[in-house]
Amino acid sequence: MTQQTPLTVLVIGPGGREHALARALSQDPGVAAVYVAPGNPGTAEVATNHSVDANDPAAVAALAGRLGVDLVVVGPEAPLVAGVADAVREAGIACFGPSKEAARIEGSKAFAKEVMVAAGVPTGGSLLCRTPEELDDALDRFGSPYVVKDDGLAAGKGVLVTEDRGAAVDHGRACGEVVVEEFLAGPEVSLFAITDGTTVLPLQPAQDFKRIGDGDTGPNTGGMGAYTPLPWVSADLVDTVVSTIIQPTVDELRDRGTPFVGLLYAGLAITEDGPKVIEFNARFGDPETQALLPLLATGLGGVLYAAATGHLAEIGPLQWNPGFSVAVVLAAENYPQMPVVGGVITGIEQVADGAHVIQAGTSTDDEGQLVASGGRVLAVVATGEDLTEARNAAYASLAGIDLPQSQHRLDIAQQAASEEN
Ligand code: AMP
Ligand code: GLY
Repeated sequence: MTQQTPLTVLVIGPGGREHALARALSQDPGVAAVYVAPGNPGTAEVATNHSVDANDPAAVAALAGRLGVDLVVVGPEAPLVAGVADAVREAGIACFGPSKEAARIEGSKAFAKEVMVAAGVPTGGSLLCRTPEELDDALDRFGSPYVVKDDGLAAGKGVLVTEDRGAAVDHGRACGEVVVEEFLAGPEVSLFAITDGTTVLPLQPAQDFKRIGDGDTGPNTGGMGAYTPLPWVSADLVDTVVSTIIQPTVDELRDRGTPFVGLLYAGLAITEDGPKVIEFNARFGDPETQALLPLLATGLGGVLYAAATGHLAEIGPLQWNPGFSVAVVLAAENYPQMPVVGGVITGIEQVADGAHVIQAGTSTDDEGQLVASGGRVLAVVATGEDLTEARNAAYASLAGIDLPQSQHRLDIAQQAASEEN
């Protein structure tokens, strides 16, 4: 075995994904202590918070050394792209999260496309545009609907998909360097895989709801809800995605001398020609992670430690509890533009059976009240025997939570639940 004694783990990041990770780690009998930095009031309930600038590699490595942890788990993309995982590993501490170089799979859309082409991974055609003329040519070539992406980190918000040529041109010019892509038609699936750079362990598929409004309307967000597993995908989807997409990408990055250690997130369109990559992310997705982790039966700490230390082949396939899980995000009014922050949150203690609250953009004010401090404020997560039960428990719990000037989608997992018999 890779680790005999209970692990101590430091989770880096401020939000909902980190709360979900810390909660699952705190419930793993193989984990003795969980720290989160900087965390939020939710993580403080399941772990010990420490303050840190999550994007400062030296500061994170120093904190991990001071705490004497066995493992650091980096949550968000920005610290990875800033080189936090490199600094932690250089300090001799195991780290779950890719190096700065490998994290470019998320940090640069152009790099991701180059890797996919080299590895023969199915994805849409794309062109990197640096001038207005190149932008016009690319829009002509791929046609409507136009897909125009900022070539950098944009927290899921730098992407415009539109049939309006003028809007596509405006977005492209505002971004500077942009990637214009072929539109991939088909339902979207998020498939996460844990890897030590060689061995790949897939999680079960999840679906995320990216648009702000019901019926997939309005602007893209970081994600307004998620559910898992997906009753409508074919039984061989995971195997197909691992063999045609995840494993070739992991192999390509290793062959380039930049092995990917951490979580590789494939955002997929299930097209008529099979699954194709819309995007890669270099970390656990948010809010899919909130929905996934309550169903994971395998201890999370041991899996992440095995990946971080190159021993993932010694861990068998991940085990899952039966049933379904739904996460519904409560966002501040006016998210994703200029969210209204400062509102007092009440009622999170009284959730339905099988439900719990994961905090994201929350903080405690001078009077000790829980207040909204970010765009996505919290998620209600519920499990059930089927999607209908999980959804009902999530929405019943959300109804008891009050945050003035907030918004949430009413249709998370609705279509899939309606197809259940
Ligand atoms: P991304 O940040 O790349 O995941 O893009 C955000 C969302 O835009 C995706 O979840 C899709 O809904 C949509 N999108 C991005 N690229 C494409 C594409 N090539 N074809 C169709 N939809 C896309
Ligand atoms: N759920 C989308 C993301 O994490 O980017």
